[in-house]
Amino acid sequence: MLSFISVYLDDDMKTILKDKIISSGRWRCRWSWWWRWAVLIIGAVIGTQLAYGGGNAFTSKGEDVLVSRIAFGSCANQSAPQPIWNAIIKFDPQVFIWLGDNIYGDIRRPFKLLGKERTVGPWKNVPRFVPASQEELESRYNIIKKNPDYSRLRKTTKVIGTWDDHDYGLNDAGKEFPEKVRNQRLLLDFLDEPQDSPRRKQAGVYTSYTFGPVGKQIKIILLDTRYHRDPLNSDGSILGSTQWTWLKKELKGPASAITIIGSSIQVVSNLSATTGPLFSMESWGRFPKERDHLFNLIADSKRDAVFFISGDVHFGEITRYDCAVEYPLYDVTSSGLTQAVEKVVPPPLHFMVRFLAWLTPNTMRVMDRHCRHRSCTYGLPNFGTIEIDWNATPVALKIAIRDINGFPVTGVDMSLSELQAKTVNSDASIKVGEQRRHCSLEVNLPWIVRHRLVIFFYCCIAVLLLALVGLIIAVISLIRLGLCKYKLD
Ligand SMILES: *[C@@H]1O[C@H](CO)[C@@H](O)[C@H](O)[C@H]1NC(C)=O
Ligand SMILES: *[C@@H]1O[C@H](CO)[C@@H](O)[C@H](O)[C@H]1NC(C)=O
Repeated sequence: MLSFISVYLDDDMKTILKDKIISSGRWRCRWSWWWRWAVLIIGAVIGTQLAYGGGNAFTSKGEDVLVSRIAFGSCANQSAPQPIWNAIIKFDPQVFIWLGDNIYGDIRRPFKLLGKERTVGPWKNVPRFVPASQEELESRYNIIKKNPDYSRLRKTTKVIGTWDDHDYGLNDAGKEFPEKVRNQRLLLDFLDEPQDSPRRKQAGVYTSYTFGPVGKQIKIILLDTRYHRDPLNSDGSILGSTQWTWLKKELKGPASAITIIGSSIQVVSNLSATTGPLFSMESWGRFPKERDHLFNLIADSKRDAVFFISGDVHFGEITRYDCAVEYPLYDVTSSGLTQAVEKVVPPPLHFMVRFLAWLTPNTMRVMDRHCRHRSCTYGLPNFGTIEIDWNATPVALKIAIRDINGFPVTGVDMSLSELQAKTVNSDASIKVGEQRRHCSLEVNLPWIVRHRLVIFFYCCIAVLLLALVGLIIAVISLIRLGLCKYKLD
């Protein structure tokens, strides 16, 4: 577009010069100059607007193109093959949202229990993760940016995003991380954020977008869960006070038909409650006060059709919490584009991971017989999708997690009216039991249910130990028997 304008400019300038020579009337010449300058300026303005959209249908902000297809994903190892882009391109999203760990920007040392440099266990003496240099981070962003499939997606789709710990710069890092200012710039460069964007001047990468014409608007709020986050287990803040003030304004601002809140870490599920002390994950659940604050803010804002999308955990699932606001609050977790729990073990053992996932109690997970697996989780590479049928009455909304071929592995079809506060005499209140299925927190499960994964794990260890002891006893007895026999002979 810009080159088209410059060609136009050159030709125009030639005409202008010719005009100047031929024309004898002074006024005529001056008018033609004015007229041509006006055309040039308007042309340049339109040109930049188009260029900002990156060649797709969007202008820089205030986009009023109707959006009905959105895809999102997280956890992409830039150095690993990323075949999933083909399925994402085939889904043909208008918007793609990065939910963090867009690259693995930190350096992971080998898993070592023993030796001079021990990276795991209570006796570890060096950190498992260390930050990388700026050059290293830039080169990692370059790898993904040059990926031909991702480049193809960028040509047709508006790409936006936020970050999680590994692209922030360090595993599980929060506000204490010293390289956050530099790394904010690198992420925004990667996302093609305009140089004059306010997002480059603020502390943290949070932002929001509104797409679509009035009445059919989708608001996408992207949170920064890193830059201001207090240490884990402090029950402090995740967003920090400035971001909270901003978020409050965003939620209380002009209405939108749908509001999607992108959080790198899970909002609804609190997996740590059922996997601790074996292992724990980062999530809003680990900051209970902060999570309540978020839910209260959404309830106070009286906004309908708010739901979350998240990443981080290396598996996909859909969860919902029915007792935060007056309609179910969904959290659609897609993780990761390359990183996935089942890939950690060889394929014949994948069933074990699924069994453990099924064994882990989860009061919030949406269970459905149409899920690919019984656990309704998905531990292989995946991406998330949101489809809106604006022509249906009432408007229909489909959320799903999809596999590497684009096929759904878990999903929910609903109408937008299900995500609205119910008026007292609405007939929907009859289905109140149905509406309030996912209300009890994981921490309130009976002890034996809540800890069944841990109990199962220790039982397995105990059985193994017993078997080992039995084996040793058997071997010793056999040797003794042999010795006695030898003596007798
Ligand atoms: C990313 O992929 C490369 C190549 O397969 C591998 O060596 C590296 O360990 C992976 N990194 C992570 C964080 O999984
Ligand atoms: C989530 O689980 C952790 C660990 O058990 C617990 O400390 C926290 O209070 C839980 N949060 C919520 C909201 O239930």
